[in-house]
Amino acid sequence: MKYHFNNKFILIILSILILFGSLAVLANYNKTKEDTLMTDKKVLVAYFSATGTTQRLAERLSKATGADLFEIKPERPYTSADLDWQNSNSRSSLEMKDKNFRPSIANKIDNMGSYEVIFIGFPVWWYREPSIIDTFMESYDFSGKIVVPFATSGGSPIGESGENMQSLAPNAKVYHGKCFSANVSEDELKNWAAEWL
Ligand SMILES: Cc1cc2nc3c(=O)[nH]c(=O)nc-3n(C[C@H](O)[C@H](O)[C@H](O)COP(=O)(O)O)c2cc1C
Repeated sequence: MKYHFNNKFILIILSILILFGSLAVLANYNKTKEDTLMTDKKVLVAYFSATGTTQRLAERLSKATGADLFEIKPERPYTSADLDWQNSNSRSSLEMKDKNFRPSIANKIDNMGSYEVIFIGFPVWWYREPSIIDTFMESYDFSGKIVVPFATSGGSPIGESGENMQSLAPNAKVYHGKCFSANVSEDELKNWAAEWL
């Protein structure tokens, strides 16, 4: 009789342990689901950033979507004199005045073919994408890929950037994209990105 009672007791304890164990696993699964978007697609976040604002946003977006991250690095980095938009002869002013200007990029993505969705980030320069983004668009075969631009700015919207980028990669599907405030949260970015994932 005593032996019987012990057996039952152990069974109850075991059941409770299994129940709590399953709950813990489930809670953890949901947490992972919340933190990073679940997608079967191969996703890349590629960005150019001259002073770090777009970079911080790109890092948040890649974390929120589980995407690989790639920084588009100019062969010749932009100095603060280069970025002086009030000087009509500064490097950025001269580059942005000429729609055909293509600043060289120092690095390359080897496995671009494997990505299905590519978010491309940049600071808005003179109401559009910086010329180095145009270089980037012409450097790869984007056929069949989804391209979604995102940007930061001093207040301007993303303008015609997406449309310009579409004309440089006619076989891709390039969306209009969006300009975010610098402090946009990871959650907001995740909800926005979900449309394409
Ligand atoms: C050359 C140049 C042109 C810019 N043109 C614009 C513009 O047209 N509209 C705007 O709101 N901000 C403009 N900005 C501000 C940047 O878009 C903004 O500071 C951006 O967040 C910087 O991003 P980054 O730190 O990733 O380079 C310009 C900045 C530079 C350097």
